[in-house]
Amino acid sequence: MKNPSSSSPIYMLSCLVVLLLLPLPSILADPDSLQDFCVADLSASPSVNGFPCKPASKVTSDDFFFDGLSKEGDTTSRFGSNLTTANVLSFPGLNTLGVSMNRVDFAIGGVNPLHSHPRATETVLVIKGKLLVGFVTTGNVFYSKVLTVGNIFVIPKGLVHFQRNIGKGKALAFTSFNSQLPGAAVLPLNLFASKPSIPNNVLTKTFQVGDDVINSLKSKLGS
Ligand code: GLV
Ligand code: MN
Repeated sequence: MKNPSSSSPIYMLSCLVVLLLLPLPSILADPDSLQDFCVADLSASPSVNGFPCKPASKVTSDDFFFDGLSKEGDTTSRFGSNLTTANVLSFPGLNTLGVSMNRVDFAIGGVNPLHSHPRATETVLVIKGKLLVGFVTTGNVFYSKVLTVGNIFVIPKGLVHFQRNIGKGKALAFTSFNSQLPGAAVLPLNLFASKPSIPNNVLTKTFQVGDDVINSLKSKLGS
C-alpha cells in the first residue's frame, strides 16, 4: 500500500488529530499554579472547578498550617481502619498546589478497603506496624508488598487498591497524592451502599450470585 505523502489531506488530518491530543495528559491532572498560592475561599459562589482565592491581604501563616493529622483516628468502624484527610476541603491552603495527604490508622487486623482515586497517584509511607498493600491493574494483575516502618509503596492513578494491617499491634500510615482532592471510590460502599441503590438484578448478574447474597451485603454495608 502507498504511504500518504506529507502534503496529502489524510496526512495533514492525522497530524492535526495528534497535535490536538498531545496536551490531554496535562489537562487531565491538577493544573499547574499560576501564582505562589491561592488559599481557597470555600464559601465563595458560584462554585468553579477548584476554588477561588481568598484575598492575599487576608492570608496569614495559619492558612499554610494544618494540625488535623496529628491525632489518632477512631478505628472502631466495621473495617477496623480510619482515614483522616488533609485535602483542599479540610486544608484550604492546598488549593491549586496539586498535593494532599491522608492519615490512615489501623486496628489489629483492620483493612482500608478496596478503593480507587480517580484523580491521583498515591504513595503510602508506613510509620508504625506492618501492612500488606496491594493494587490491581486494568489487566487484572495483582501487585502487593508487605511494608514495615519507613517503607513506601506507590499506587498508580485510578487503580483499585487496599492496605491491611497484618502486624501484631496497631498500624499507622501516611499517604500522599498528586491532587488537592484525589477523590475515593470505596468499592464496597459504591456497589452496595449507593443512594439510590443499584438494582439487585444488575448486581446478581454481575457477581453471579443470588438475591440473598446481594441483600445481605446491602444490609451489612448500608448505613
Ligand atoms: C489509602 O489508600 C488512602 O487513600 O489514604
Ligand atoms: Mn488510597
